[in-house]
Amino acid sequence: MVPVISNAKPARRQNVASGADGAEGDAAGEGLRLQKVLAQAGVASRRVAEDMIADGRVEVDGEIVTEQGRRVHPDTAVVRVDGVRVMVNENLVHLALNKPRGWQSTMSDDLGRPCVGDIVAERVAAGQRLFHVGRLDAETEGLLLVTNDGELAHRLMHPSYEVPKTYLAWVTGEFERSLGKKLRNGVELEDGPVKADRFSVLEVTEGKSLVRIVLHEGRKHVVRRLLAEVGYPVERLVRTHVGAVALGEQRPGTLRVLGRDEVGALYKAVGL
Ligand code: URA
Repeated sequence: MVPVISNAKPARRQNVASGADGAEGDAAGEGLRLQKVLAQAGVASRRVAEDMIADGRVEVDGEIVTEQGRRVHPDTAVVRVDGVRVMVNENLVHLALNKPRGWQSTMSDDLGRPCVGDIVAERVAAGQRLFHVGRLDAETEGLLLVTNDGELAHRLMHPSYEVPKTYLAWVTGEFERSLGKKLRNGVELEDGPVKADRFSVLEVTEGKSLVRIVLHEGRKHVVRRLLAEVGYPVERLVRTHVGAVALGEQRPGTLRVLGRDEVGALYKAVGL
């Protein structure tokens, strides 16, 4: 089935309000009660969080905590429930941005061209120190993660963690299906070989094809160069997934706050 990608016009304004802002202070500097931290993070109500703690399901900084009322510092503690990292630091912001075609993947542009900085401007003005995780070239659309979480961003951009990125490409030409194997085995580009982790042809009609390609590296123009190398120049390119985070039908030019499970999956993918 051909996936749905929004063709709507870029949005003009963003809603800055998010659950990630305005964390309750840790006034005494002695941390907050663990059940409260779990409830604030949206894991469960305090009452249910207490049961989870009693059942030995909650880990703080590598140690299972079963005592109620343990104080933790949400800014620094690494908290896991059933082994899965829970984002308890309310100062960290994790967003999905749908970059429109023709926009620069930069926080500002000296030439005044539209850039992702325009889309996050209200948040930056409100004090969030955001940056985008990697880049999409100007003509490429789709999912760009935006965050202030430096460690996560660093790992997501590092090829050694092999986080897969999925692209839909509309190409010129009727794609020869047997080429899928070649793409998976690796194609030599001028800066070294590249291999598709996965590849499938979704649609072939009248001189055009729609293909899906999954790669875990981020060399410049890599998808365009790879498909051109095997004879199919890209006409339109959309990134639909970064790891388990999906673009879905999010409108171009908009931001979406990632859910707890999505952030947990990103952390897991890079071993945090
Ligand atoms: N590959 C490309 O060709 N362009 C992008 O923006 C990302 C990957």
